[in-house]
Amino acid sequence: MKILVATDKPFAPVAIEQIREVAVKAGHTLVLLEKYKTPQELHVAAADADAMIVRSDIVDAAVIAAAQKLRIVVRAGAGYDNLDLSACTASNIVAMNTPGQNSNAVAELAFGMMVWSARGGYDGKTGSELLGKSLGLHAFGNVSKCMALIASGFGMKCYAFDPFVDKKVIAGAGVTPVDTLEELYSTCQYVSLHIPANDKTKNSIGEKLLSLMPQGAVLVNTARKEVINEAELVSVMEKRSDLKYLSDIAPDNAALFAERFQGRFFFTPKKMGAQTEEANINAGVAAAKQIVAFFATGDETFRVNKPK
Ligand code: 3PG
Repeated sequence: MKILVATDKPFAPVAIEQIREVAVKAGHTLVLLEKYKTPQELHVAAADADAMIVRSDIVDAAVIAAAQKLRIVVRAGAGYDNLDLSACTASNIVAMNTPGQNSNAVAELAFGMMVWSARGGYDGKTGSELLGKSLGLHAFGNVSKCMALIASGFGMKCYAFDPFVDKKVIAGAGVTPVDTLEELYSTCQYVSLHIPANDKTKNSIGEKLLSLMPQGAVLVNTARKEVINEAELVSVMEKRSDLKYLSDIAPDNAALFAERFQGRFFFTPKKMGAQTEEANINAGVAAAKQIVAFFATGDETFRVNKPK
């Protein structure tokens, strides 16, 4: 079978080596398409692929239509908002993700941004510490578990809200579960977002929640920019000069933040939470192994779309 690794943002070379090893050992061929410039390039490369490994690359109905032989697509990562699941189902294609494989990298980036911000961007002036501060985890999945672990090392008090996770699981990780989002946002000096981007969550973080945050609060977003209501975030930051926003990927109107909120925001130039060699290896190799298992035994563990 031909496995296409199609990544606009390439995996580290060491990860590619290991992905190739898994594929070749199982008798498959690995083809690479990296840093492509147009969707057409992806369409051409996908035309004879039996399987695909992608990152945040858009796999929409046009890609599915171009990939006539495709039987499985694996998003090497957690969030699969880039996959058109209905189009996959309609064409009998199995869609999967690799949950948990890049979580630590994302959590470490979140903390990196938090320390940077607490120390005023390392400007030499008096900053603050994370010790003793409260951290609110908005959703309690794999990244939040890593966040809680790191937070305990920093001596932070951790809270979480997740209606889909048993409170005992949250408490078992040393985190205090709270009953409402309002409680989370009004309690915590740092709130870190770990929700997926879907119809329910897009634009859901806005004035209502942000205005509840305590004095000097910081919103940390390593999830997706789409979950933020950007106009409302700007409006709250205008009203409250104490609020800060740290995000793994710039908002649509980054220039406005630069103009109005100097020293109160940080944006990575490119989404890079999962951009470590370790995370690339973990997620890429997991994706390759899932594809090998699918072709060998029909294993559909980690399938995220409905069967036809
Ligand atoms: C994920 O959902 O796994 C992360 O956002 C990582 O995305 P990336 O593979 O595009 O870096």
